[in-house]
Amino acid sequence: MREGQISASLLEWYDRHARVLPWRVGPQDRRAGQLPAPYAVWLSEIMLQQTTVASVKNYFHRFTTRWPTVTALAAAGNAEVMGEWAGLGYYARARNLLKCGRVVADELGGTFPDTEQALLALPGIGPYTAAAIAAIAFDQPAVVMDGNVERVTARLFAVDTPLPTARPELKAHATRLTPAGRPGDYAQAVMDLGATLCTPRNPACGLCPLRTACAARARGIAAELPHKTPKKPNPTRFGIAYLARRKDGAWLLETRPERGLLGGMRGWPGSDWTETAPAEVPPLPANWRDPGAEVCHTFTHFHLRLALRVADVPVSAQPDRGEFLIPAQFRPSALPTVMRKAFDLAQNAMVKNLR
Ligand code: ADE
Repeated sequence: MREGQISASLLEWYDRHARVLPWRVGPQDRRAGQLPAPYAVWLSEIMLQQTTVASVKNYFHRFTTRWPTVTALAAAGNAEVMGEWAGLGYYARARNLLKCGRVVADELGGTFPDTEQALLALPGIGPYTAAAIAAIAFDQPAVVMDGNVERVTARLFAVDTPLPTARPELKAHATRLTPAGRPGDYAQAVMDLGATLCTPRNPACGLCPLRTACAARARGIAAELPHKTPKKPNPTRFGIAYLARRKDGAWLLETRPERGLLGGMRGWPGSDWTETAPAEVPPLPANWRDPGAEVCHTFTHFHLRLALRVADVPVSAQPDRGEFLIPAQFRPSALPTVMRKAFDLAQNAMVKNLR
């Protein structure tokens, strides 16, 4: 199959099988000249980085209901946006989302730029996102490379060089395939193919619109590709978190520094997270108890084992760090997942202790 036939077969498949997604304008409506709002494309693409479609749907709905335009989002407070992002992970995305939204609202009159190059200059927009917005929101023939596209391309051309070394080679193949007509649909078609048929394990080659063109299928190696250079196993780090509850129901929380892991998010005061046992650093003197359960949580580059200390403290307690938040000021759902796990375990332990 020639490049033109490959993209045509894929687009024909997409016309029949495009996933219906809340941020998407489907192929029929696009043919009628409709394009999605750049705000919706930008927001969804940032949310979808390292995150599944299933997890993103609810967040996308909540964000667009609460902030229907980039101007509305830009006017929101940092804590409101970080709280609404809680649970999605990779919190640098939310910090950059706000920065970018404010540049678009304050400096660009609320209008997103329509070229890959101008999009790339905005905070939090890297090569993938710039290409995705240019293609999907503005129908520009940008070459969109993400994990799905890399896998589809590696199989189609039986590229056996391992990732990440293979990236330039895969991009060159993908560039040749990207059609001048319907580039927005095409970008989404490759992503849908990667997500639904050309999956990492057990690809459904029998149903694939590109099965006759696929070099990996011809050699019987589709499921093995792409190869990846083995990574070093991630280390385990250890930490201690202190959960103090005042008699009036307030909890001691702090806002984490802007830079660094979970930056700008609320969390429990505690030790640094280190590869050796951390020292005790209670945020106030109290009768700290070990509930005997620890939080296990995996971040991108390490596993965390977080020991807990819990204490009931008087209303007069004066912490050296953080601030007490009464129930009206504190929504557990605004905590990042690791802190939420700590809260759930501590609450359980404290309830048991009362019995
Ligand atoms: N994954 C990331 N972006 C996507 C999109 N626009 N459509 C489908 N899956 C995606």
